[in-house]
Amino acid sequence: MEKLKDTLIRTKTKIDTTFKSIKFPNSNVLESTNEAMYYMLNLGDGGKRIRPAIVYAISEAFNGDEQKAFEFAKAIEFIHTYTLIIDDIQDDDAIRRNAPTCHIKFDVNTATLAASRLFEEGLYPFHKYCENIELFRKLNNQLHKGQCADLNAESWGKDMLSLQHLQFIHSGKTSALIQIAILGGCISSKLSEQQTSKLLEYGHYLGLAFQAKDDILSKTETAESLGKRAGEDADENKLTYPSLFGSVENAQIEANKLSEKAIACLGEFEKENVTVLEELAKFTVQRKR
Ligand code: IPE
Ligand code: IPE
Ligand code: MG
Ligand code: MG
Repeated sequence: MEKLKDTLIRTKTKIDTTFKSIKFPNSNVLESTNEAMYYMLNLGDGGKRIRPAIVYAISEAFNGDEQKAFEFAKAIEFIHTYTLIIDDIQDDDAIRRNAPTCHIKFDVNTATLAASRLFEEGLYPFHKYCENIELFRKLNNQLHKGQCADLNAESWGKDMLSLQHLQFIHSGKTSALIQIAILGGCISSKLSEQQTSKLLEYGHYLGLAFQAKDDILSKTETAESLGKRAGEDADENKLTYPSLFGSVENAQIEANKLSEKAIACLGEFEKENVTVLEELAKFTVQRKR
């Protein structure tokens, strides 16, 4: 996985460095919102920065516009950070990346304002460059529906605990965000509608595999190594791959199948253009955090 490793390291260095000195336009130094946004963009070790790496993986393989890719790479991390803030409020989680979550470090009001501002900033390059804004709107809507269903699922009856419902949640809360990153990469590289649609299909399965593995890691790893709550505490009443398939081993088999489905979507591209994406699909289900 040499090519993926290289893309991840370069992306993380670029995004981490950029966010350390980030300033938002029209910001008021007296607002605690800015402090909370800055805190979250640099939370802990900054995280894996996988979604910006997806933008670069596509843009670099298909001769994309570097400046546009940079704008999308930052934007997707703003949107990801917005989802993390809201998710931690919803899940009542105090720790992420081994650091206090936004609403714990500040308060729920400040965290909500910081999340809204990050989302707004994240929308900007898509509004500026996306010719098919309806597609972007659809993906955002799906993201919202997934988080909403995830929240409601805790009180669903047994008849709702199905693979179909689980994948509905994951295709929203996880795949849609990954697909937005893919869209950014495709726009920077001026890919055709057909190519974009194939990569979005890849993103759908990659997201499902990513979330399945996330649910597995919550069972197999410690809170310290994941940097967030793990185990029964985190998954109580939650519909997850391990709970649905009865064991971590079975869930891992399903996650591997999803990763293979993602890779199958790359078949019609030149192999060297999609090596990083292929490696990413494999890494997603083998990762330890
Ligand atoms: C966490 O995403 C949210 C999920 C979709 C499970 P990541 O695992 O990409 O989080 P960071 O950014 O690396 O911390
Ligand atoms: C992940 O939610 C998806 C989003 C943050 C949108 P989870 O609640 O399943 O993941 P963690 O464990 O908090 O990262
Ligand atoms: Mg959560
Ligand atoms: Mg959640």
